[in-house]
Amino acid sequence: MKIKLLIATICISNILCSQTNPLYIPPLMYGPIYNLEMMNGSVQYFQGPATSTMGFNGNVLGPTLVMNAGELVQLNVLNSLGEETTVHWHGLHVAGEDDGGPWSAFGPNETYNPSFTVEDKASTYWYHPHLHYLTQKQVTLGLAGMIIVKDAEEAAINLPRTYGVDDIPLIMQSKPFNGSFISYIVGPGNGTGTGPINNDAVFMMNGIIDAEQSVPRQVVRFRLLNGAHQRVFNVGLSDNATFYQIGSDGGLLAAPVPLTRVRLAPGERAEILVNFSNYPEGSQLFLKSYASELPSSIWGSSNGGGNAANYNPNPLNGANFNILKLNIINPTLSPVVTIPSTCANVIPLPENSANVTRIKYFTSSPTGPVIGTSPAEAGPPFNFNFINDYVQLGDTEIWELHNTMQQYHPFHIHDIQFYILSRNGNLPPLNERGRKDVVSIAPNEVVRFIAKFDNFGEGVPYMYHCHILPHEDKGMMGQFIVKKNVYVNKNFNGAENGSLTNPYNTLFEAVNNSPGGSTINFISNGIHNEAPPTIVIDKQAIIKLINGQIIIK
Ligand code: C2O
Ligand code: CU
Ligand code: CU
Repeated sequence: MKIKLLIATICISNILCSQTNPLYIPPLMYGPIYNLEMMNGSVQYFQGPATSTMGFNGNVLGPTLVMNAGELVQLNVLNSLGEETTVHWHGLHVAGEDDGGPWSAFGPNETYNPSFTVEDKASTYWYHPHLHYLTQKQVTLGLAGMIIVKDAEEAAINLPRTYGVDDIPLIMQSKPFNGSFISYIVGPGNGTGTGPINNDAVFMMNGIIDAEQSVPRQVVRFRLLNGAHQRVFNVGLSDNATFYQIGSDGGLLAAPVPLTRVRLAPGERAEILVNFSNYPEGSQLFLKSYASELPSSIWGSSNGGGNAANYNPNPLNGANFNILKLNIINPTLSPVVTIPSTCANVIPLPENSANVTRIKYFTSSPTGPVIGTSPAEAGPPFNFNFINDYVQLGDTEIWELHNTMQQYHPFHIHDIQFYILSRNGNLPPLNERGRKDVVSIAPNEVVRFIAKFDNFGEGVPYMYHCHILPHEDKGMMGQFIVKKNVYVNKNFNGAENGSLTNPYNTLFEAVNNSPGGSTINFISNGIHNEAPPTIVIDKQAIIKLINGQIIIK
């Protein structure tokens, strides 16, 4: 791997450092078969001992996987780490067993071989480990890579797409160092580990400290990914020039949104276009994170860690710091010089298409923040043996998320992309009106989003969680199963389940609300102890009762 590091002095704050290093551009990897090896590595970040790292096919990060919508892909991931891991394809709509969540752990020298058809829209996704208790460790040590999905709709737009030249991947991370070691915490509570992680004072762009990149005098596309374990970045240009956001997490926006700042929480992505046509050749500017403008209670602001230990001092908190130096060079041979007027055909799901509303509360508990179902009780931390939610295959759901804590939390859900309906009752800003899989929620804010759960049912559970990785590791996470099956409370007596949603109280409701081909299971209510019979619904059919079982023919 050709990461060159020329650091002669330890730059605690890169504001003070004038020395720069070329940006590392991860190599592209094309499919349909992707061979990845997770390995231990080492990088000379500072003078003195080298730093132990982890990477895919190299010392840190991983190749950028290029996938085409509609293509069947196969990923072969070999674990050479010497410890268990998983790999999750963040944002992609795949079956639970291919999703790489905590259930899909594989051990040293084992391989994980998920295969799926790419069903998502053109956008920037990413992959990273997701082993319960070890996600922060493995990601912070370096395991993260970008996925670029391409499709015909995106290809039809006049956009920069020469990778590394006018289409530039930018993975933003801040790393906590304890001497030459990158710190991490492991396990429940604060567990064990190698030191505090709130002193993430070293910013890296694509694994490079104080990185610089040449950009041609034309429209340049940056694919921004916040791959940090907890820090929020508030990206803007050092001359406050306007740029255009064209994509959110899971697809292009309807039209470019002019901005001078784009705020990204851990896990979030944004594609932006910057028009450098009018900058003189040889001029320089910076991409910066304007953390001084972040509201307090957001991680990265001057006072954003809630009551997190050792939050301050950290020179990045509340500071405006450089994240990438840009050197303007002459244009390429056929440059893109205009910002498109429209992007994609974005069709949000209408609010009235939802048949279920699910309410969650972010609350604090003795073990750390949790996601629960009531404002009063701190819902238990993540438990493998408890399925928090059952979603019916084919349903469109509204999720209503209440943050009762004094800290922002970026909520992420697997399996689906969602559309934000409202923030405290108001429409979201224009750059949040496309497909999303992470949403940041402020203290006392209520966010409602809508999503359709189609294609994949049963099998390995999916996760939802806070994408602040130490929160996730401490159990600010739940799991859900998308059921092909429908459950009916046989002998419902009016008191057991007040809800008319799944599990349904009557067969009539179950049939009415289930897609054809569903199976109906009867749950004993405790008075009757018979085994649940199974029936398959065909909505065109007649329902008959035969020998105590209900058969729909
Ligand atoms: Cu980016 Cu559940 O993960
Ligand atoms: Cu994910
Ligand atoms: Cu959180």
